[in-house]
Amino acid sequence: MEDEHCIFSIFGATGDLTNRKLLPAFYFMEQERQLKEKFRIVCIARKKKTSEDYRKEAADSIKKFSRVKVSQGILDKLINRIYYHQLDFLDDNDYGKLKDFIGQISGKECSDCERVFYLAAPPQLIGNITKNLKESGLAGKHELGKPFSKVMFEKPFGHNLDSARKLNNAITSVFDEKQVYRIDHYMAKELVQNLLALRFANSIFEPLWNREYIDHIQITVAETLGVGGRGDYYDNAGALRDVVQNHIMQLLALVAMAEPKKLSVEEVRNQKVKALKSISGFNKMGIGKIAVEGQYSGGEASGKKAIAYADEPEVSKSSKTETYFALRLQIDNSLWKNVPFYVRTGKRLKDKATEIVIVYKDVHFGLFSKLAPQRNMMKIRVQPYEGITLQFNAKVPGNKFIIDDVNMDFCHECQFGPNSPEAYERLLYDVLIGDQTLFTRWDEVENAWRVIDPLIEAFKNIKPKLYQAGTWGPKEADELIERDGRKWVEPKRPSYADQLGKSK
Ligand code: BG6
Repeated sequence: MEDEHCIFSIFGATGDLTNRKLLPAFYFMEQERQLKEKFRIVCIARKKKTSEDYRKEAADSIKKFSRVKVSQGILDKLINRIYYHQLDFLDDNDYGKLKDFIGQISGKECSDCERVFYLAAPPQLIGNITKNLKESGLAGKHELGKPFSKVMFEKPFGHNLDSARKLNNAITSVFDEKQVYRIDHYMAKELVQNLLALRFANSIFEPLWNREYIDHIQITVAETLGVGGRGDYYDNAGALRDVVQNHIMQLLALVAMAEPKKLSVEEVRNQKVKALKSISGFNKMGIGKIAVEGQYSGGEASGKKAIAYADEPEVSKSSKTETYFALRLQIDNSLWKNVPFYVRTGKRLKDKATEIVIVYKDVHFGLFSKLAPQRNMMKIRVQPYEGITLQFNAKVPGNKFIIDDVNMDFCHECQFGPNSPEAYERLLYDVLIGDQTLFTRWDEVENAWRVIDPLIEAFKNIKPKLYQAGTWGPKEADELIERDGRKWVEPKRPSYADQLGKSK
């Protein structure tokens, strides 16, 4: 009974995340019959409204944001599962009423059903919400005979290591780690999940995945969008906290970790943590040589005029917040000693692309060592044009022996079709079935902050270098990698791009 049904409560149910992502994801799950008969959604927010009002708005959001065609019958079925409850998140006395409300909805037949609490609320409210969930008896560490409860939330997970620890203490004083689902939506991307298979299910790649054969690795998370309507949040966060601390550190951990002994959630997490712990510390004096912060000035992005970051709404005119960050990291273990990892992320860059590029060493032996062929590369395209390109050398036709680089492409969509689940469809499903694989454990978050904290400190009073919107970032970031005799690999449309729909 407990694993079959669930009461899913969303704190922050009138926000953007709920409307754009969570409700459409539930629609998809309803369509796929992944929701059990007694599954109910309790939508909680501060605004006063009835369940009827909320249901109308929810239906509109689903019609607007669903990635699949909406059929009225399925929509009605989902909408009938949704209830609205008004709550002041900060008023401790309100939680008793929430408990009664959830009790009524659960009814007798679902009084011991599992309860999931999705906290789509600002981080400063999370401690108070979890404390009240415990005190009202709605949730807590698992005890026999009581409903099992789970808690889910998004980043920002703290502002630095210290605040992240405090937030985590607040959560783990109410829930055990096995009840906690920390979301990093990058983990739900198909090509990210594919990294395990690519690395450990292929005898042609695995033996070469180390310092003997790899010259360096690049990770790029580039966006063409600016901060849009999120100036208020972003100006207090910046690219380091917004993307490097979480998405890039997760990608790096998956690329660099040693082979897990078995395919289990905890073993994969253990190996990721080991990799993160091996990232060497930074020498404060030397940070300027291995890291660059940038901020976009006006320019053109995706063919349209783009304003400077400092002119964006809710952003301070004299803002020192970085919208771009590039960094060279070293991983101090026997697998990666002396193999640099170059990572970069930015907004308002030339193209949207998340790519991991493995750059192999020069051919330094045998017949062609003098002909200086291009380095072999493996480009793992996380998005868009999901897939993998292997770049290698081949003879150009003709009677001279000329060598040039050619590509061998794996197009994920051509092979498997366009229907990979959207991140939240996958994450919500996983929480229902209790699979924590795609969620981050506390020590992953903690060790990522350990890397980021000194960088935040070092750049605290430094104005980022300006770069023009629509370019690849500040020239100092090119210099960072060029000083080592290397170059950023510019993301390119793969040969199969034209075959795919216009959605990319
Ligand atoms: C989010 C960041 O976590 O990731 C955003 O807060 C960023 O600023 C987004 O735009 C990028 O995600 P995706 O899936 O579009 O690459």
